[in-house]
Amino acid sequence: MRKKTVLVLGLAVLAIAAAACAPNATQSALEPKGPYAQKSYDLFVPVFWVAVGIFVIVEGLLLLFAIRYRHRKARTTIPPQIHGNTRLEIAWTILPTLILAGVAVPTIATIWDLASKPTGNVLEVNVLGHQWWWEFDYPDQKIDTANELYIPTGRPVYVTLCAAGFGYGAGPPSEPGPPAPNACQTGPPDSFPPAGIGASVIHSFWVPALAGTQDVVPGMTNHLTLQADEPGTYPGQCKEFCGYAHAEMKFKVVALTPADFEQWVAEQQAGAEAPGQTEAEKGFEVFQSDLPAGGHCTDCHAIDGLETDQGQPILSNGAPNLTHFASRSCFAGCSLANTDENLRRWLENPSAVKYGSFMPDYGLSPEQIDQLIAFLNTLE
Ligand code: CUA
Repeated sequence: MRKKTVLVLGLAVLAIAAAACAPNATQSALEPKGPYAQKSYDLFVPVFWVAVGIFVIVEGLLLLFAIRYRHRKARTTIPPQIHGNTRLEIAWTILPTLILAGVAVPTIATIWDLASKPTGNVLEVNVLGHQWWWEFDYPDQKIDTANELYIPTGRPVYVTLCAAGFGYGAGPPSEPGPPAPNACQTGPPDSFPPAGIGASVIHSFWVPALAGTQDVVPGMTNHLTLQADEPGTYPGQCKEFCGYAHAEMKFKVVALTPADFEQWVAEQQAGAEAPGQTEAEKGFEVFQSDLPAGGHCTDCHAIDGLETDQGQPILSNGAPNLTHFASRSCFAGCSLANTDENLRRWLENPSAVKYGSFMPDYGLSPEQIDQLIAFLNTLE
């Protein structure tokens, strides 16, 4: 019995230690890294301690009474039965009301504060929740990227949240149709899929260190403000169950100094350069040719600045824009680091590495995969 206790305690300690070492250790709302996360935290702490105080008093009295007045064998009489005590009843009605009213004042003030649109030098980003990845569209900068949200430090980022994919907004509820019009469609023309991949479902956008969480609801436009004080990478996660790969619908917020951010913007605004090396050139051919299992990469993925051999622009159609794919550190909803090895696994069979992915297995040969990887690596 003692051995078992030691084992359980040991495992618990190990689990806590392992959790502390996890790379996502900063995915915590208890370590705010910006003013908007700080506001939520500053509300959470006093409310938490009020709740702890009430818990200790209530549970303490419960335990005290349970022990003090427990049944004893020697007891032969029933204690006097009391029905009602007007003073006590008034007290325990008024006291909780006062506590809740007290907590409501800072709560409502914080809700209003966080819900208001920031003024001044604000960066606006449209965030589209897809099954199962995030699209980041910068309407003023005309940038469309995926899974990594770049922001400047010290500047509020006002995010407009929309659900992407086939929806129920355009037709009768029983018939899936094109996505309902929403505020995120005002970006560059290729930023919104004319057809859809995946259903338009509820997601929830959450970067715990930088802001609270906000749902992404089909047919609705929601907003959230976030801001980072220091440069760094802040992990984020879809927080609303949205289908098979919900757990792999991750993303990163990369905060750069304002100067570095402006440089990133300039780099992203440039179109892709046509691949120079032969291996990459062959990859670009594969990218636009009939794939072994049917279909084309260009059916779904955009590359700004490049044209097919037929002179057609390569537009987005529900899948991530790949214009600067090689500049991203992760892909597939940030579930995979952007390495040749992971790209190979992905291109062999996407849903084997991210179950439920809408990108099918195209039956690519190992040679085609190598060529595609060489091509993707040129998209810096
Ligand atoms: Cu998107 Cu869960």
